[in-house]
Amino acid sequence: MAKKKIGLIGGGQIGGNLALLAVQKNLGDVVLYDIPVAEGLVKGKALDINQLSAVDGYDSRVLGTTDWKDVAGSDVIIITAGVPRKPGMTREQLLDVNLTIMKDVAANIKQHAPNAFVINVANPLDAMVFALHKIAGLKDNMVVGMAGVLDTSRFKCFVAEALNTSIRDVEALVLGGHGDDMVPLVRHSTVGGVPLTELLPKDKLDAIIDRTRKGGAELVGLYKTGSAYFAPAASSISMAESFLFDRKRVLPVAALLKGQYGINDFFFGVPAQIGAGGVEKIHTVELNESEKAEIAKSFASVKATVDAYDGTVTLYEWDDQD
Ligand code: APR
Repeated sequence: MAKKKIGLIGGGQIGGNLALLAVQKNLGDVVLYDIPVAEGLVKGKALDINQLSAVDGYDSRVLGTTDWKDVAGSDVIIITAGVPRKPGMTREQLLDVNLTIMKDVAANIKQHAPNAFVINVANPLDAMVFALHKIAGLKDNMVVGMAGVLDTSRFKCFVAEALNTSIRDVEALVLGGHGDDMVPLVRHSTVGGVPLTELLPKDKLDAIIDRTRKGGAELVGLYKTGSAYFAPAASSISMAESFLFDRKRVLPVAALLKGQYGINDFFFGVPAQIGAGGVEKIHTVELNESEKAEIAKSFASVKATVDAYDGTVTLYEWDDQD
């Protein structure tokens, strides 16, 4: 079987960790792309990781590049091109600058890798993946946003900590947009099959929900110069793996909805099966009235961000001048 090709767009903090994880998991050969000003950064990271491969005996290779032609033929692309938050900022405040970057990235994906399965990580997440899908003209099932795996992972981490129990047995689900009104579904969460609501009192659960919602901001506050990168990279790789190896895992991802959860033609965090066909299935969870209200609130935030720019993005048409 030919080696898979993984295109990483953006070679910053998350991009570098993605490259490392992809190599350590032998997912395939990696192309780490960034803009010319960051040429040394991506070439350096590629060289450094390739030297690590020699020590540990990994077969995957990394190419650091500023040429989109090297990205062509990627099976999967993960986009982290964009500016991260600084303390005090919301993800939505990144919209203007990151939309400009996304317009460039999406147009190049359309030209160089239109058949790849594309995972977006840049924020504001749900709005960026909407723009990506539209500008690059990607098939509905071949483009997703990474947020739910990370948000769910944060939730599980705090639950395991509160109970002093193995994180492996925590099952949880966080739905909705990747913003402060994301929806951790406590009622659907269990530890070793035992409902979470029987294991922790309401005040503790509320504190965990609050910390999950602000999980990204907590890290921005600690790092000061940027946002989280280890867990976002690992979360994105789990989605890429499910696609590359047809694992058919059901993961919370920002997928294009067509009426599910009462939402049409927007990307929103829902449980979806990811396999060789990209998004193969979207699952609908039975929600009670208060959960439905939380979903509606989260969706209103996503929609407001998309509505703020939607008129300015269209399918990119290449001409000879490009
Ligand atoms: N094409 C490719 N790469 C680009 C482009 C572009 N047009 N514009 C900027 N970049 C690169 C930058 O040069 C930088 O190397 O994107 C990289 C971003 O890296 P970091 O600043 O380290 O940001 P990171 O922490 O990786 O986060 C990236 O993911 O989680 C989100 O909010 C976060 O939107 C941010 C993104």
